[in-house]
Amino acid sequence: MRELIVIVDFGASYTQLVARKVRESGVYSEIVPYTAGFEKIDAKKPKGIIFAGGHIDTPSTTASVLRVDKFEEQVIEDFATNKCNCKCDWTPSSFVEDEVKRIKEVVGDKRVLCGLSGGVDSAVTAALIHRAIGDQLVCVFVDTGLMRLNEADLVVKAFRDEFKATLVHVNAEERFLSALKGVTDPEQKRKIIGELFIRVFEDEANKAGKFDFLAQGTIYPDIMESISVGGKAVAVKSHHNVGGLPEDMKFQLLEPLRDLFKDEVRKAGLELGFSEELIYRHPFPGPGLAVRILGEVTKERCDILRHADHIAIEELKKAGLYREIWQAFCALLPVKTVGVKNDKRTYDNACVFRAINSVDAVTADWARIPYEVLATISNRIINEVPHINRLVYDISSKPPATIEWE
Ligand code: XMP
Repeated sequence: MRELIVIVDFGASYTQLVARKVRESGVYSEIVPYTAGFEKIDAKKPKGIIFAGGHIDTPSTTASVLRVDKFEEQVIEDFATNKCNCKCDWTPSSFVEDEVKRIKEVVGDKRVLCGLSGGVDSAVTAALIHRAIGDQLVCVFVDTGLMRLNEADLVVKAFRDEFKATLVHVNAEERFLSALKGVTDPEQKRKIIGELFIRVFEDEANKAGKFDFLAQGTIYPDIMESISVGGKAVAVKSHHNVGGLPEDMKFQLLEPLRDLFKDEVRKAGLELGFSEELIYRHPFPGPGLAVRILGEVTKERCDILRHADHIAIEELKKAGLYREIWQAFCALLPVKTVGVKNDKRTYDNACVFRAINSVDAVTADWARIPYEVLATISNRIINEVPHINRLVYDISSKPPATIEWE
């Protein structure tokens, strides 16, 4: 049985940091709201209990107990390793090994369906399951045509060529673009894309036969209930990709990453053999470039934006800033501006570059990127991308702005 330290959450801002610190010490940790009561906590047979920002009575327990009132790294590490006397053997490779064993037992000789979104979580989920059950897994990748440059290729290459997994790659670019024709309202775009995505996914799933399990890239922050000091649940993220599936598709859910934080998912991904390029990509919204092209989405505007975005990201990487920044991207504005090129007047698109730092995307601050890097990004985009003649840098924080422009 794996060793466990429970973090009892009283709504303190540092609860997640404590949980992560325990895990970095090599011990698996779980966050439990204090409202769960002591009996429920003790029933998990933890080796240690950490009260974060509050305290409840601990009648009698074999677990060691610690109270923390701020992010006390050394104390936490000492508690996990010395006071609780843990073996500290929770590592990305032990996680992969244990999870592969568990998936084999749970799935047996049944079949699993996994939708690849192009993102890191679904990719690592699929790779883990593939390592456990090979061809009993079928991956479906719906390529909306709204992804970043080379993104679809990166996913297809990893699964088809490197892992030799069974991959259904659906090129649905035309269907998505024609469904979006003439649409300018952001929420309307999201609705159209969400509904069409499910329809395409469902068609492909039906063609691929009968499945017993549906794999999902749910991760720990998705399911964790964080509680306010008043004891009320304040943030439970809905499983939007399950919520949309038709009720007559009777699957059992397989969510092998549900205990992991994002950085642990990345480490497990590297352990499974993914490239750093794929694993460390910045987050990308489900509706993709459609919410970064303000106004109507067309193939031409997608290509212009993809090109500009690629240059910006390439320059951030060259400057060694890409991994420091939480999310960076370009968006194409629905305004034309006057410029001059080769002594001739131009009247072309304005593009915005946005780079932010954040912990959880709930709040964000614009990144203080050195002027020289911004200058290179601007020069390259304006000179190399046809139909862009102006670049602006977004210096808005969230709130009151949001990270995306739509
Ligand atoms: P906002 O713009 O709300 O973005 O500050 C917060 C984070 O969520 C991403 N985002 C989305 N992700 N579907 C998604 O899957 C969406 O419709 C969507 N809108 C925004 C955004 O990229 C940022 O990381």
